[in-house]
Amino acid sequence: MNADGRTRLNQTPEWTALEKHREELAGTGLRDLFAAEPGRGSGYTLQVGDLHIDYSKHLVTDETLRLLRELAAATDVFGLRDAMFRGEKINVTENRAVLHTALRAAPGAVVEVDGENVVPAVHAVLDKMAGFAERVRSGEWTGHTGRRIRNVVNIGIGGSDLGPAMAYEVLRSFTDRDLTVRFVSNVDGADLHEATRDLDPAETLFIVASKTFTTIETITNATSARSWLVDALGDEAAVAKHFVALSTNAEKVSDFGIDTANMFEFWDWVGGRYSYDSAIGLSLMIAIGPDRFREMLDGFRLVDDHFRTAPAEANAPLLLGLLGIWYDNFHDAQSHAVLPYSHYLSKFTAYLQQLDMESNGKYVARDGKRVEWQTGPVVWGTPGTNGQHAYYQLIHQGTKLIPADFIGFAEPVAELSGELKAQHDLLMANFFAQTQALAFGKTAEEVRAEGVPEELVPHKTFPGDRPTTTILARELTPSVLGQLVALYEHKVLVQGAVWNIDSFDQWGVELGKVLAKRVEPALTEGKEVPGLDTSTQALVAKYRELRGR
Ligand code: F6P
Repeated sequence: MNADGRTRLNQTPEWTALEKHREELAGTGLRDLFAAEPGRGSGYTLQVGDLHIDYSKHLVTDETLRLLRELAAATDVFGLRDAMFRGEKINVTENRAVLHTALRAAPGAVVEVDGENVVPAVHAVLDKMAGFAERVRSGEWTGHTGRRIRNVVNIGIGGSDLGPAMAYEVLRSFTDRDLTVRFVSNVDGADLHEATRDLDPAETLFIVASKTFTTIETITNATSARSWLVDALGDEAAVAKHFVALSTNAEKVSDFGIDTANMFEFWDWVGGRYSYDSAIGLSLMIAIGPDRFREMLDGFRLVDDHFRTAPAEANAPLLLGLLGIWYDNFHDAQSHAVLPYSHYLSKFTAYLQQLDMESNGKYVARDGKRVEWQTGPVVWGTPGTNGQHAYYQLIHQGTKLIPADFIGFAEPVAELSGELKAQHDLLMANFFAQTQALAFGKTAEEVRAEGVPEELVPHKTFPGDRPTTTILARELTPSVLGQLVALYEHKVLVQGAVWNIDSFDQWGVELGKVLAKRVEPALTEGKEVPGLDTSTQALVAKYRELRGR
């Protein structure tokens, strides 16, 4: 029994039923499942907005899905979902509401936190962002010397970087190509150096994005950027026209020297990794324009509404979350690959790594006890065709089970034409061929029938039964991006609910931050750090020796 009165997850009858079912299904492969159900290919699909989701190539039957839904019911997944939408403080360890869904609520909607409707404030900030974005895009907002802004550099890390950086890449073909937009996150000075070395300070706007405005990497980079600007323009007053802030912390923004009139606000009920559709998306909004940004929000909202209202049998985030649990908890899968067949989605998986792994990489349950079941998987992947010539070998013939999501589009982005547009069919031929090969493999008989010498037959045999979800949409638009991100956001909630963990805190990243602050004086001044282990002590000494200190 849990401290909160719930039966331990792995002792529930629903869990035990799934374990038994897993044993019964052992030996039943995808070839068997497809042979038994002629309608499976088109039947195991869902349409959510523009997303066609095919889950037929999973090692599941109707019974598996029913049992998984029973587990979701027993763990009250929809109860947590509803509590989130209602603005309850479901981030229990930080006592905070989790309301990224309010960021894309329609203007007339009512979402209350502590009795206050937050939707008007959300739209006020969106309007302020839109006004500013238009002024930068039109050239009305000028730099300190009166020159037009041509470069935008977002300085932030984690959720204050990955979302806008990913979305800027995804929507590049919708951006104003006359603007250079860059993202600096790493405290390695090389990042800021490379981002600014060819920019004219008089034409550069820095957006300092930090929810807390205390994150050392961001504040260090922002301070260096300010020196770069002031040194070049020779006037401290230049900061006012070249720095804006995105934050929840007006006091720290002001301490840094940014006028809070040039601060775009968000709230503690927006988690960093769930924040790019808040003010944190300002760089993206400048790049694509407010209308496209709002289209993206509409896409998010479409999937929010679906998640909130669709029945369990047809609820896509629920389904994807449960399929992940099936492999994670009942097939011992350790990782989950996300493989987009779109160059524009090249940063999508990196974005999902924070969303998923910072949310569900927890070994402590909501009741404070250690879990006795696996929680979040390692999420990884890069654009699919490149992966095919690198790590797909392991997915096809390795010893590990790696469930994967394949994401592709029927149309290339509108900007492509001629031969480049024609290449899209080849890209997508790979997309379809891979999930087919992963699912059905190639038997030894089929290999032999091709006249392959007997000693090579085992090497050329593919076992198949490598499960995949296919997500196919017509075109990668701002709305489709919003739909995709919301789908994964809600999948994370589903899994956290089943595992009974708090998906919305991130205590695990705090220790490293504290220790870095303690170790720094040892590097710079050779100070003794009390309690430093002998390995780290020796490494620090070696570092100082190599630096001639
Ligand atoms: O890495 C920890 C973390 O707190 C993330 O959750 C967050 O997105 C990131 O740091 C950046 O934080 P901030 O926006 O406060 O600078």
